[in-house]
Amino acid sequence: MENQERAQKLFSAVQPSGAITIGNYIGAIRNFVKLQGEYDCIYAVADLHAITVRQDPAALRRNTLELMALFIACGIDPEKSVLFVQSHVPAHCELTWVLNTITYPGELSRMTQFKDKSARHADNVNMGLMDYPVLMVSDILLYQAALVPVGEDQKQHLELTRDLAIRFNNRYGATFTVPEPYILKDSGARVMSLADPSRKMSKSDENPNAFVTMSDDKDTIIRKFKRAVTDSDSVVRYAPEEKPGISNLLTIYHAFTGKSLAESERDFAGKGYGDFKLAVGEVVADALAPIRAEQARLLADKEYLRSVMKAGSESAARMARRTLSKVYRKVGFYSGE
Ligand code: TRP
Repeated sequence: MENQERAQKLFSAVQPSGAITIGNYIGAIRNFVKLQGEYDCIYAVADLHAITVRQDPAALRRNTLELMALFIACGIDPEKSVLFVQSHVPAHCELTWVLNTITYPGELSRMTQFKDKSARHADNVNMGLMDYPVLMVSDILLYQAALVPVGEDQKQHLELTRDLAIRFNNRYGATFTVPEPYILKDSGARVMSLADPSRKMSKSDENPNAFVTMSDDKDTIIRKFKRAVTDSDSVVRYAPEEKPGISNLLTIYHAFTGKSLAESERDFAGKGYGDFKLAVGEVVADALAPIRAEQARLLADKEYLRSVMKAGSESAARMARRTLSKVYRKVGFYSGE
């Protein structure tokens, strides 16, 4: 059965813009690992996207390598999946240029994320920030990906991907696979801020106690969970509307232990918030410790990381080139071959 049909292609990427939170891990990276068995997965470190907001160049370089190492430490197997750095494959920018010519400014200026980021970075509303979704579209279409696992905040960008794929196909003939969003089964695992459980946990939060990063050590993790905002009740119960803080902690506990929410509640029946927060912190710290150790081991082996990046970008470039050549031919570019 297995070889009768090629597995569907699946693409996703994470930006190397600072610390990766446990929210990114639970919501994205951990699922990338699971999807490896089912699909032909292509995963990128989206450094071209990262520079749409101001980055410190040395930090960007370091974060790129750290994210590469983190992907592998979390279980992405470069022998199974294509793992690469976006800027190493020039076709991403090349396709973006062509797709820009079928995209209307209004489609980009009304994107929720563009509006949010423009407000947050009012001193740096650049063309790249506006064109960011088209670059994302190119990432996906270059690999003819059928599936894209994305969170709520990227859904609009996936809709644009579908719109542009259809628009191009209609104008020039069948070229691109029109992708579908990949909806994760355990959609309950949305990790919220520890300081304000009505907001998503974000690495760009000004309050460092609002998020836990993949590089926080045990003491830091426990301290952050101890400070997590809860409520004035004292029952550990899952009730997102009424008890958003406690529910968020239960979600995190559930995500890291694999226990159901009901089972997680039972673990803390009759116990106070103090014990509960400590237990959540310990579960998270214990889960992250081996990942952190493996990431550090990989970061000490730059030769290995370099070889993974090189092999990954070569495979990616080969696939991307095939699509780009087709696009160039369809739009009427005279072949240079
Ligand atoms: N913009 C995505 C994010 O910040 C990252 C990303 C870049 C991406 N290219 C992609 C995600 C293509 C899915 C598909 O989360």
